[in-house]
This record gives sequence, C-alpha cells and structure tokens, in this order.
Amino acid sequence: MRHFLDLSDAGGDAIAAMINDAQDRKAARLGWAKGRPDADAPLAGHVLGMIFEKSSTRTRVSFDIAMRQLGGSALILDSGTSQLGRGESIADTARVLSRMVDAIMIRTDDHDKALEMARHATVPVINGLTDRSHPCQIVADLLTVVEHGKALPGLEMAWLGDGNNVLHSILEAAGLMKFNVRVGIPQGYEPETEFVERARSGGATVTLTQDAKEAVVGADIVVTDTWISMGQEHVHNKLAAMAPFQVSQSLMGAAKPDAKFLHCLPAHVGEEVSEEVFEGEQSVVFDEAENRIHAQKSVLLWCFDRI
Ligand code: CP
Ligand code: NVA
Repeated sequence: MRHFLDLSDAGGDAIAAMINDAQDRKAARLGWAKGRPDADAPLAGHVLGMIFEKSSTRTRVSFDIAMRQLGGSALILDSGTSQLGRGESIADTARVLSRMVDAIMIRTDDHDKALEMARHATVPVINGLTDRSHPCQIVADLLTVVEHGKALPGLEMAWLGDGNNVLHSILEAAGLMKFNVRVGIPQGYEPETEFVERARSGGATVTLTQDAKEAVVGADIVVTDTWISMGQEHVHNKLAAMAPFQVSQSLMGAAKPDAKFLHCLPAHVGEEVSEEVFEGEQSVVFDEAENRIHAQKSVLLWCFDRI
C-alpha cells in the first residue's frame, strides 16, 4: 500500500520520477481543455474521495481536475456535512471509504488523524495538508523550480517567515533532493528540530538566521507563506515579530538576479510579501498554483504504482 503522508514515503528517486512524469504529461496536453483526459487515461474508472476539515481552493480543485485528466473522478466530503463532523471515528470512516473509493485524500488540522486514516484504510491515503506538513504542495514547488531551469541538487532556497507545515515539507525535500535551505525566521517560530535534522542528515545544508537579508543573499529561490496558518487565527503578536521578514523588493535584490519567488497561496500581500514582489517579474506563483494539478497527477500515479 502506497500512502503519501510525507515526501519520505516516496523518497528522492520517486520524487524525481514524479517531476519528470508531470513535465511529460503537462507538455503532452498543452492547449487542451482542462477536463479532457490524457491520451492513456491511466486511472480510468478510479475514484478519489477527498476529506476536508479545513478550507481549500487549490488542493480541492487540483485533485479533482487531476483525477479527470487521469481518466477518473473525485468526490468531496467536508466535515460540516459528513458524519465525521458529528463524531464518526477516523477508523470507521477509513474502512467505509476503502470499500467505496480507490484512494483517499485528507486535509486535517491534526497530522495524527491522517496517520490514523492510513492505518485503517485499505486504499492509498494522501496528505492534502496537516498542521505538520504539506507534501503535495512541495512536489508542485519542485516541479516549478525545475521548469524554470534550476537543477535541484545544490540549489539555494531561502525561506522567510513562519516555521510552518510548508517549511517542514521543504526541509524534508531538501534532504531527499539535496538542496540547501536558508531560513530567515524570528526567534520562537522556528521549524520543528526533527525536520531540520532530517534535512541535514540527508546532506542538505540548513541555516537558521534571524537576519532576513543573510537568508536571501545569493539565493536561487525565495519562498514564503502566510504568517498565520489555518487554525492559528487566535495567535496574537505574531505579525509584529514577522514584519522584518516580509519579502520586499530590496530583499529580492539580494538574491541571485535570476532568482524566482514562490508562495503556495493564499497570499496576504502587504504582510509576508510586498505587492511589488508578488506582482513582479520574479514571481512564479501562478505557475506554481497551476502545477498543483500536474504534481497531484504524479502523486496519484505513484500511489497507484504507475510511477
Ligand atoms: N496552497 C494550497 O494548498 O492552497 P489551498 O489551501 O487553496 O488548497
Ligand atoms: N501554512 C498554510 C498553508 C496553506 C496552503 C496553512 O496551513 O494555512
């Protein structure tokens, strides 16, 4: 059973193969209507069940369109209108859905729920974002980086802002794909040590600094994310601590001249990124968003042992 709960479930070779397959499939359907299946329709007849305990635009739409392009279909259960929201257990939900769909994607506020789903499901379970990690996003990010002509081994990636789920998956990717991460972050908001150590033990150089400019100097890629993740709306005083880490044009100027700016979206322009950078020439955030479709197709194909 191939669950995709974190990038290390697949490993570096499989992620490289996913990026290649995504590029090939994307090129083969250039200009086609978005719902038209790929010529080989590799997941014809397959259904993906998607569970959302948190809001989503990109993950929800990209998985649905990904399944259509692979020849299958997808359906959505949200916690407000399914029995999960009334207390039905993850274990029972996993066993029921395993009889009804071919794979499950779950977005939840608690990573343990995704693990529990995988323990009880007899079909692949995919992490569509938890409080701990966001691996599907990072497959799309790496695809975007490669598409923009940058090789992953030895790449210098700068992260500015919060030490959150997206950064955790970037760090996991760094160890697997051998790129380096400089994290510019205020004290008290650092990523979990486990992810930093895992990246380092995979051979990545990870630098943590409270100096935003030091993080960005010479970077190939500059990335940020919202300062307030879903579920953290009650956190106070964070914006003031984060303010020096806004990706501004002057900070982008410290990166390599051909550096690209990434953001998983949704963005809070004027907070973690200035409008000038977000709308500027170095920003590839909408390529990155589109690539969620192409990346999700690869993740699904890997889960079904087709990659
Ligand atoms: N980047 C991302 O996961 O977006 P959504 O929250 O809209 O799915
Ligand atoms: N860190 C953000 C990512 C949203 C896609 C969150 O968890 O809300």
